[in-house]
Amino acid sequence: MVLLGEVFPDFTADTQMGTIRFHEWLGDSWGILFSHPNDFTPVCTTELARVVKLIPEFKRLGVKVIALSCNSVDSHRKWIEDIKSYGEVTGEEFPYPIIEDQARKLATLLGMLDPAEVDSQTGLPMSARAVFIIDPAKKMRLSILYPATTGRNFDEIIRIIESLQLTQKYKVATPVDWKKGDDVMIDPSVSDSEAKSSYNNIKTVMLPSGKTYMRIVPQPLDA
Ligand code: BEZ
Repeated sequence: MVLLGEVFPDFTADTQMGTIRFHEWLGDSWGILFSHPNDFTPVCTTELARVVKLIPEFKRLGVKVIALSCNSVDSHRKWIEDIKSYGEVTGEEFPYPIIEDQARKLATLLGMLDPAEVDSQTGLPMSARAVFIIDPAKKMRLSILYPATTGRNFDEIIRIIESLQLTQKYKVATPVDWKKGDDVMIDPSVSDSEAKSSYNNIKTVMLPSGKTYMRIVPQPLDA
C-alpha cells in the first residue's frame, strides 16, 4: 500500500492500448489512476463514460488518466464498445488506457481489493472504486476508496486537482467546499509577518481564542 507523499510504484501493466511502464507513461504530467469493480456493470459504465467526456478538461489541467479492473484486455475491448455507446462517444479510439489485472497483482500492491465485493464465478475479491492522484514528481498526493455501490463524483476529482495544483504553487490551503476562484486561506505554516509581506488584502477572522489563524485572501489568479 502506498502512503501520501510516497513515490507511486513504477509498475508494468497490459492495457487495451498496449503495455505501459507507469512512470514513463506519466512523463511530466499529473496522473489519475482509478479502479472499478468489474467490466460490464452499470455504475462503472457511467463512470468510464463520464471520464471520456472529461478528457479535454484533464488535458487542460495536464492530467493523464488510466483505469484498472481485474478483467482482461479482451474484456476491456468488448466493454469499451458499451461505454462508447452509452456515453454517445464518437471516434474510433477510446481515449485512455484500462489496465488488465486478472491476477490482482496491482490491486493487491495498491490496496484496492474489496473483500465485500466478490466475483460470482471465481469467488475472488474485486477491486473497489479507488482513486489515486499522482504528481509530476511521481508522488501520491491523494487516495480515496469508495465501495462498489457508490459511483464517484468526477467534478470533485477535478476540484481536488485544481486545489492540489494551486496549493503546490502558493502557500495557501483551500477551505471547505472551495471552488476555483473562491477565496483561500493562508497556510498555517506561514508567519503573520511573512503573510503581510506577500499579501496586502488579508481578512483575518476574529475568534474567541484570540488566535489569528483564519487568514483569508483572494485566490492567486495566475494558477
Ligand atoms: C456497478 O458498477 O454497477 C457495480 C459493480 C459492482 C457492484 C455493484 C455495482
